[in-house]
Amino acid sequence: MRIDSKGLIYLEDVPVETIAREYGTPTYVYEENRIRANFRRALSAFRKYYPDFRFFYAIKANNNLAVANILRQEGAGIDAASINEILLAKKLGLGGEDVMFSGNFLSDDDIKQGLESGVIFNLDDISILPRVLKYGKPKFLSFRLNPGYGQCEVGDFVCNGGPNAKFGVHPDQIMDAYRLAKEAGITRFGAHMMPGSCIRDPEYFRFITGLLMDNIGKVGRELGINFEFIDLGGGLGIPYKHEDKVLDIDEAAKQVSDIFTRKIAEYGLNSPRLMMEPARYFVGDAGYIVGTVHSIKNSYSKIIGTDVSMNTLARPAMYGAYHHIYVNGREKEERAAVGLCGQVCENTDFWVRERMLPKDISLGDLIVVENAGAYGYAMSYQYNGRLRPAEVLVNGDKHYLIRTRENIEDLVRNVSVPDYLTK
Ligand code: LLP
Repeated sequence: MRIDSKGLIYLEDVPVETIAREYGTPTYVYEENRIRANFRRALSAFRKYYPDFRFFYAIKANNNLAVANILRQEGAGIDAASINEILLAKKLGLGGEDVMFSGNFLSDDDIKQGLESGVIFNLDDISILPRVLKYGKPKFLSFRLNPGYGQCEVGDFVCNGGPNAKFGVHPDQIMDAYRLAKEAGITRFGAHMMPGSCIRDPEYFRFITGLLMDNIGKVGRELGINFEFIDLGGGLGIPYKHEDKVLDIDEAAKQVSDIFTRKIAEYGLNSPRLMMEPARYFVGDAGYIVGTVHSIKNSYSKIIGTDVSMNTLARPAMYGAYHHIYVNGREKEERAAVGLCGQVCENTDFWVRERMLPKDISLGDLIVVENAGAYGYAMSYQYNGRLRPAEVLVNGDKHYLIRTRENIEDLVRNVSVPDYLTK
């Protein structure tokens, strides 16, 4: 993003006015070069300290195939949370060992299709293993450990590790889990965890890597398992508030590889590949929503009404998450405290209660919501007949529509009305 001397906003080199004119609002916009830069910065940091390193991209955060293809071109594999995400990976031309299936609380159908797909099977609980073995033997298996600790930026909402999380194998069960798998004749193993999201403290990554390695090290030593990869999950954080500190990615990589190599030596493991599967770090700060001010109310307080509603961006209403807002052409102007909301009939849609925004914000002004590239469109939904927005990719001064705005046909697409009700 760039703001010129008149306060006009550009995403890469495309004015937001062009986005609004060509595609309407609300529209998600992604900066291709920023995605690539984020990926390359992180990859070179980790490879600098541990050359046998690979990223998988957790496609749940932004499943637009244009965005995912950028990361595939950069060399990422795919972390899939469901069968449909394995099928999305297939549409990218990825399968086999380039895809990791980390579903949880799987149905028998999930298990059967997961096995048929031939991707790396990452099990979230020991109880899944016998169910998998009923249908076949995965070539490559890992377990997701819940290391007993997790952390997250938005309260407990996204804390995926520790006693309150639904995810992962309990440390007391991890030895038995791998033993059963080995006894069943499975020969290729990895290990995995995903205890938290949006962490900007390098020490956290060192700490959780130590926890995982202590558990996995004992398994390797006792069962003679040769782990081919260790996957530390995602969690690399971005600052949502401008005063928040940026994650020192070099320091995180250094801390992780330091503890990782020590633990490999301590437990006598053959150097496994080190993997992570971030999403937010790659796409979060490369995405924006362009919206329009449609209505302004002066009542108990002044409220600016925009077309960026809770169904467009769910995070503020769901987690109380903060997203910075810019107003096109007014960034240099005087500010005043106002509220801002969307158009949905829920009061959680009053998603900015009070914020210093340009005082003269007016009807027709364009707003730009920052850090919307991860868990933005992917978590949008249809409510109140407010439909999902368009998605646009920008690269330099070029812009491409990468998902069409929904229309009324999308709202009724899967609906059928029994004949007698039409009479
Ligand atoms: N791997 C697994 C198994 C995951 O479950 C996730 C995210 C990731 C990787 C990627 O995590 P990241 O690098 O983005 O932290 N909706 C929430 C975030 C939910 C995270 C779910 N799992 C939000 O908007 O903050």
